[in-house]
Amino acid sequence: DAPETLKARPPVVAVMGHVDHGKTSLLDALRGANVQSGEAGGITQHIGAYQVKTKGGDTITFLDTPGHEAFTEMRARGAMVTDIIILVVAADDGIMPQTIEAINHARSANVPMIVAINKCDKDGANPQRIRERLLEHEVVVEKMGGEVQDVEISALKKTGLDDLLEKLALQAELMELSANPDRSAEAIVVEAKLDKGRGAVATLLIKRGTLRTGDVLVVGEESGKVRALINDKGQQIKEATPSMPVEVLGLGGVPKAGDVLTVVENEARAREVAAYRKEQ
Ligand code: GTP
Ligand code: NA
Ligand code: MG
Repeated sequence: DAPETLKARPPVVAVMGHVDHGKTSLLDALRGANVQSGEAGGITQHIGAYQVKTKGGDTITFLDTPGHEAFTEMRARGAMVTDIIILVVAADDGIMPQTIEAINHARSANVPMIVAINKCDKDGANPQRIRERLLEHEVVVEKMGGEVQDVEISALKKTGLDDLLEKLALQAELMELSANPDRSAEAIVVEAKLDKGRGAVATLLIKRGTLRTGDVLVVGEESGKVRALINDKGQQIKEATPSMPVEVLGLGGVPKAGDVLTVVENEARAREVAAYRKEQ
């Protein structure tokens, strides 16, 4: 076989942290749209992951899933997609049980963390106290002489977000993330559902290769043929490249989060593989 051509790909980032510390607010702020007010208006174009461009021109992919459970589930199934974890800690609160859980997730998966000290707009905010408390859990941030990057933010007032994005881009650069786009696609299901009008719909994150309309695929116990690809802005696209989140239409049934999608040579083969898996 010819050697693989690896090209740089965007980092895939997951947001974790304790209840109410501001994970959803941060994801919404980064996306630049408030999902909640969108939902109040009726239909929301909601896809389980999205991309943001930094001022420096880098692209970052954010996983918009309920953090811990999805992370554990995907890891257990060997479908790790997360390159970097943002640990959100509310500056007016402290290190709570799910903060510690997130630290442990990052450690055991060997995924680097960036600490976002949130709610810095609040009167009771004390970012320095958070840094000190993190020490007790062996998370040593830069301002304490360590190597874990930290940034003070307010998801509510939208401050510190560019700083956070630049630090994510820097971390990604150090990791030299790459994938071969010039092969058949492999992707991971982030979420999937049955849509009244569109049938089975899955949000995928491309791991390697390029997924195109017309590709025949197997995903978990389902087979299908890509009828349409829709990006995080709701636009139809012809192909999706590594680290890109995309909605795929044309599946025979609804796969599970964490299922792996592979492209196969023809529909007979796809049905055969799917049927075999169903029997297992
Ligand atoms: P769960 O998904 O329930 O675990 O919560 P979460 O971590 O997603 O927190 P969420 O974004 O829902 O925010 C919880 C509350 O904190 C909401 O009332 C937010 O408006 C508020 N909040 C989030 N970020 C900030 C911030 O930067 N400053 C202030 N003052 N409030 C914030
Ligand atoms: Na909440
Ligand atoms: Mg939330």
